[in-house]
Amino acid sequence: MRQAGRSLPEYRAAREGTAMLEACLTPALASEITLQPVRRHDVDAAIFFSDIVVPLKLAGVDVEIKPGVGPVMGAPVRTADDVARLRDLGPLTAEQLAPVAEGVALTVGALGGTPLIGFAGAPFTLAAYLVEGGPSRDHLAARTLMHADPATWTALTEWAADVTGAFLRAQVLAGASAAQLFDSWAGSLGLADYTAHVAPASARALGSIADLGVRKVHFGTGTSELLVAMRDVGADVVGVDYRLPLDEANRRLGGSTPLQGNVDPALLAAPWPVLEAHVRDVVARGEAAPGHVVNLGHGVPPETDPDVLTRVVQLVHSL
Ligand code: CP3
Repeated sequence: MRQAGRSLPEYRAAREGTAMLEACLTPALASEITLQPVRRHDVDAAIFFSDIVVPLKLAGVDVEIKPGVGPVMGAPVRTADDVARLRDLGPLTAEQLAPVAEGVALTVGALGGTPLIGFAGAPFTLAAYLVEGGPSRDHLAARTLMHADPATWTALTEWAADVTGAFLRAQVLAGASAAQLFDSWAGSLGLADYTAHVAPASARALGSIADLGVRKVHFGTGTSELLVAMRDVGADVVGVDYRLPLDEANRRLGGSTPLQGNVDPALLAAPWPVLEAHVRDVVARGEAAPGHVVNLGHGVPPETDPDVLTRVVQLVHSL
């Protein structure tokens, strides 16, 4: 999951002196960082080291990732004119995406058969950062815009779908074996808003790789009420955070959709017997679904002891 590397001393050493987005766009460094958790923890797949705002940066948006804060925009995108200026940046070209494709290709070569998961941010989560200008708790400005000016909102989310879709497509074409769409902040929406104002753009983003034949995972947090809608935009696998047990998630999805996730990141800092019991419970409940990709329900807290992560992987393999 996101920011997994931050708990590793070798990650901090590799990143020393290099800004986050610069690291993402330096293929050899992005590849090395992607491999670090695979070497250390013996996980069954790698997730490409990049960030959901990389396609915004490549398109020419003034964005940086501030340590301890997250993505911050030079100026928020709020009006029809702001969105028109974004759209003038155009779709992403192969030239712009070259550092991403190169990073993926290097990584796939070095992984020697271990699958690489490519990923991108969903249009709502990207639009939330663009409209708010940075991280936000309630995404009020974004939720206002979708109702106050639906045409501008639609234009914004369609543009976001196209750049993020191009980013995802570049990763798959360069060799990623699966693709995950992160709608991290979709949980701030009710089902009606999600369906009317967000689902079409997410379907458009996933549609951009529909012809490539890789499995598509769709993840959000606080999305217990949105699981069916998030599957129905074109996902093969639904990510479940730590709020809903997997047997209940499976029931809500009608028993036909493989699941991913569900280990509570908070328990990584609990005594081992507590964490072990939790992981065993998550795996047991996941048996209800047609498949379960064991993973955390959200990001790795930076202060996590890496040895605990290795032990969790060993436990899951033993099960
Ligand atoms: O763990 C990995 O390296 C996988 C690659 C990955 C990153 N970001 C690298 C990263 C992935 C899959 C992401 C996704 C991402 N980025 C999401 C979606 C998933 C989620 O977490 O909900 C979101 C919302 C972002 C935006 C973002 N980027 C945030 C909120 C932050 C954290 C800011 C902070 O310091 O608290 C980032 C920075 C970021 N992205 C880091 C990494 C490794 C940390 C950079 C650092 O501090 O060294």
